[in-house]
Amino acid sequence: MAGLAPIAVALDAPDLETAARWAGLVTPHVSTLKIGLELYLRYGPEVVASVRGASAVHVFLDLKLHDIPATVAAAARAVARLRPAMLTVHAAAGAAAIQAAAQAAPGARIVAVTVLTSLGEADLDRIGLAGPASAAVRRLAVLAVEAGATGLVCSPQEVADVRSEVGEDIMLITPGVRPAGADVNDQARVATPEEALRAGADLLVIGRPITGAADPGAAAAAIAASLRRAEYLRG
Ligand code: C5P
Repeated sequence: MAGLAPIAVALDAPDLETAARWAGLVTPHVSTLKIGLELYLRYGPEVVASVRGASAVHVFLDLKLHDIPATVAAAARAVARLRPAMLTVHAAAGAAAIQAAAQAAPGARIVAVTVLTSLGEADLDRIGLAGPASAAVRRLAVLAVEAGATGLVCSPQEVADVRSEVGEDIMLITPGVRPAGADVNDQARVATPEEALRAGADLLVIGRPITGAADPGAAAAAIAASLRRAEYLRG
């Protein structure tokens, strides 16, 4: 994937044709395409082949599995045949569920979601995760990595902290990324692509700044070019 930007474009499209069109436009510039629950639940496994096309792009299946270990294992096995590069599991499902996913889908990187960034301190209190969110993020990150996750989703603000807990070998993936001057939409805590990478992120999840642009291919190319100028990208 030399020369491709370390970006997972969130294909949050209303229909399969739109998702496939965006995919075709951005794959010359980015390493990864992210398929979320909405698209997957509407169109099923065929969505993966539709967006992948004939390209070698990595597919990030963001299904956020959260169930008992046997069910997580069965679900991970069911999607493993789609050859996703990455599959998400909620860290709060527990160590056994993460371990089960890793065993059931050995070809996929199991990426654990620590604490959803939509949850504020009051929400966390109500679900029993008292204390600062950053402590819960760190605790869940360590639990997930010990159980076999080799990737973690966290906000750009948490990356440096999480990196110091889990070391260099774990892929840290950050949503909430906005190029300077872009609309923040409903993201509360944002960072530019350069800031997120400088903080230690390995892969940036970017949706609307690319897919909402008049020309998604040009928007992806522009972000890739800015990272190249900042020397985060060779080639
Ligand atoms: O359009 P935007 O760049 O905000 O898209 C971000 C993507 O990352 C969406 O698919 C969203 O569901 C996902 N995401 C997020 N925050 C998280 C986890 C995932 O925005 N904490």
